[in-house]
Amino acid sequence: MDTFVLGGAPASRIALGCMRISSLEDGQLSRLVHTALDAGINYFDHADIYGGGACEARFGALLRREPALRAQMRIQSKCGIRQGYYDFSCEHILDAVDGSLARLGVEQLDALLLHRPDALMEPEEVAEAFTRLESAGKVSLFGVSNQNPGQMELLRRWLPQRIAVDQLQFSLTNAGMVDKGIHVNMEGPLSLDHDGGVLDYCRLHDITIQPWSPFQYGFFEGVFLGDPAFPALNRVVDALAEKYEVTPSAIAIAWILRHPAKMQPVVGTTNPERLAQIAQACEVRLTRQEWYELYLSAGKKLP
Ligand SMILES: NC(=O)c1ccc[n+]([C@@H]2O[C@H](COP(=O)([O-])OP(=O)(O)OC[C@H]3O[C@@H](n4cnc5c(N)ncnc54)[C@H](OP(=O)(O)O)[C@@H]3O)[C@@H](O)[C@H]2O)c1
Repeated sequence: MDTFVLGGAPASRIALGCMRISSLEDGQLSRLVHTALDAGINYFDHADIYGGGACEARFGALLRREPALRAQMRIQSKCGIRQGYYDFSCEHILDAVDGSLARLGVEQLDALLLHRPDALMEPEEVAEAFTRLESAGKVSLFGVSNQNPGQMELLRRWLPQRIAVDQLQFSLTNAGMVDKGIHVNMEGPLSLDHDGGVLDYCRLHDITIQPWSPFQYGFFEGVFLGDPAFPALNRVVDALAEKYEVTPSAIAIAWILRHPAKMQPVVGTTNPERLAQIAQACEVRLTRQEWYELYLSAGKKLP
């Protein structure tokens, strides 16, 4: 597993997302987490809302049963989504972090992200919350999720802390971030800018992009791998999987890792065998031609 330095400490190039773990039995969760660590995956992504809090609580219960695990991992959580609205108020951010720390049973979050942009965000309040969390030792690294460059600039005007991460949807079938760069100034839907140039912005400011749902098409509509709705894409993925002697899942992640933005995909499998296979993506370096072949097979065009 490749690693990189994030906030002064090593982070695995692939992260394990914990959004789907609430239904696992204790033994299954333990096996998943041990498999991740054995494969070199030390970065775990949570959110206060996953499973209505149950995902953090189940993870916390595992850490209480196996306390030695904590030192081997970096735990990230997110806050700011409430029932029916978004809330980046200082009070809510502070409460949310206390809730996550209590459920996880840890003293510090290694990273905290603001989950989805709050239209009513007041950056001074976010700065106040982050500063209090940092001085209390409750959070060591800060970031955002689903934010565009303008929103991050607004925060940066007030935050003494660095924005280290932007977690964004990105995959072979959700590649808007690269489409518009290829189609600059052209007519047609692929030229449309939906994100304010977030990919280049993150590269310029050393913000790690964490692609979420790297196997899903649409907004959690399903997994594109093996889906007959994506015949050309699956043909190319399968051929490359055979060539590199890995699974199709590893090829889908290798496509993300091949991008020079040095992203950190967050995979959400709950299946240990699949996770170990996905980790092999780090051993595959697709050629430039293969990267484009995959991109085109997902239905995209070059001008
Ligand atoms: N910031 C945000 O707004 C945001 C939004 C959504 C998610 N996230 C984060 O991103 C993480 C990943 O999201 P996700 O779970 O939707 O992502 P994903 O990794 O794209 O999807 C995982 C799901 O696909 C299933 N799957 C079926 N076939 C698969 C295959 N061949 N390869 C891989 N997975 C396959 C898995 O089932 P099995 O469990 O049976 O393998 C699992 O249910 C979440 O855990 C969360 O941490 C963040």
